[in-house]
Amino acid sequence: MSFPIIAPSLLSADFKQLRDEINEMDEAGVDWHHVDVMDAHFVPNLAFSPDIQSYLNELTQKPIDTHLMMTHPMKYCEAFAKQGSEGITIHVECEEPIQEIFDHLRSLKLRCGISLKPNTPIESLEPWLDQVGLVLVMTVEPGFGGQAFMPDMLKKIEWLKKYKESKGLDYLIEVDGGINKSTGAQCVEAGANVLVAGSYLYKAENRKEAIASLKV
Ligand code: DX5
Ligand code: ZN
Repeated sequence: MSFPIIAPSLLSADFKQLRDEINEMDEAGVDWHHVDVMDAHFVPNLAFSPDIQSYLNELTQKPIDTHLMMTHPMKYCEAFAKQGSEGITIHVECEEPIQEIFDHLRSLKLRCGISLKPNTPIESLEPWLDQVGLVLVMTVEPGFGGQAFMPDMLKKIEWLKKYKESKGLDYLIEVDGGINKSTGAQCVEAGANVLVAGSYLYKAENRKEAIASLKV
């Protein structure tokens, strides 16, 4: 696996031609596909049922990285696991017992991920960092693609890198929102090793070049 891992966000795909979109991204060299799931309660948008993820699962061999922006994610974990998720990321702000969700994800043989909104202090993740395989730092207010990157979030990435080195942990550090060549490089510099990008990759003239620009 070469770093940073590049994961296009399905939210920005053209669903009128999903097969071509996914084939083109895979041929252009992406590593994962990122699926944003939104419940219109935790965030002011609605996106992607397990059925939609099943179409992606049929179209690609790449790992599927599922991001549950949901107040009550527990009851959907199994459905997404059945539709190809390799890892599921929940939010620390969700309204269910996080340990129970992680125990459930592990019973489904899934990577456990935890994420936080921009206004949530990074220290709120501390109780979970010794058991997650991935931490997702939202670099925009979650809910929509195409927003501007929030540079203040770089401090959270630096904190996570220092924490994992000091504790001998090996979680991946993922960023999501407003990622392009410049902001992606800043995040990698700060310690990120998984870059989620929606509009930058799906709206690129040349997707192969756009992906390569994130890999440097
Ligand atoms: C926002 C989503 C992001 C978004 C990224 O809530 O979680 O994954 O799709 O889109 P861009 O890269 O366009 O900001
Ligand atoms: Zn996401």
